[in-house]
Amino acid sequence: MVDTLESTIRRAKVWDLYALRKVIVESVRATNVGDYPAEDIEHVIRTYSPLRALLMFAYYEMFVALVGKRVVGTATLDNAAIHAVFVAPDLQNKGIGRRLIRELECRARARGTKSLKIESSITAERFYTKLGFVALGDHYRSRSKVRMIMMQRDLQESA
Ligand SMILES: CC(C)(COP(=O)(O)OP(=O)(O)OC[C@H]1O[C@@H](n2cnc3c(N)ncnc32)[C@H](O)[C@@H]1OP(=O)(O)O)[C@@H](O)C(=O)NCCC(=O)NCCS
Repeated sequence: MVDTLESTIRRAKVWDLYALRKVIVESVRATNVGDYPAEDIEHVIRTYSPLRALLMFAYYEMFVALVGKRVVGTATLDNAAIHAVFVAPDLQNKGIGRRLIRELECRARARGTKSLKIESSITAERFYTKLGFVALGDHYRSRSKVRMIMMQRDLQESA
C-alpha cells in the first residue's frame, strides 16, 4: 500500500501547460528510462512538444494533480481513451496516479462510457493492472518503434 499524499485533481488551465510538460519530460527521463532505449525516450519526449500539449488541451479533457500550488501529475481523457498519465518522479508511489485515473473513470462513467483504453508504457503496466485494467497485447504507435501495451478497463464491471 502506498503512503498517500494530500492532492487535488482539477481540469487543466492553459497556464498549467508549462508545468504539466515539465512533469511529463522529467517523468519520462527519470522513470521510463529503465525500460526503454535512449532513442525511444527522446522520441516520446518529442511527441509531447509544446504544440502537441496545446492541441491535447484544446481537443481533449486534460487534468492536473496539485500538491499545494505545484502541478505534480497529469492525465487526459479522450472519449473512451486515456492518454498522457504522468506523476512527478519525486512524488510517485503516493497515490496520485491512482487518484487521477479514478477521476477520469468517474467522469467517463457518468456520461455512459462502458470501457476505457490506455496505451500503457512497459513501466506502467503493473500500475494499470492494479487499477483493474487488462492487457490486450503489444501496441506500436504509428511511425514509431516504441513498444507500448494496449490495456482496457471495463467500467460496467467495476461500477
Ligand atoms: C505510472 C505512474 C503514472 C503511476 O503513478 P503513481 O502516483 O506513482 O502511482 P500510485 O502511487 O497511485 O500507485 C497505485 C498503485 O500502483 C502501484 N504502482 C505504481 N507504479 C507502479 C509500477 N511502475 N510498477 C508496479 N506497481 C506500481 C503502487 O505501488 C500502488 O500500489 P498499491 O495498490 O499496492 O498501493 C507514475 O509512476 C509515472 O508517472 N510513471 C512514469 C510515466 C509512465 O510510464 N506513465 C504511464 C504512461 S502510459
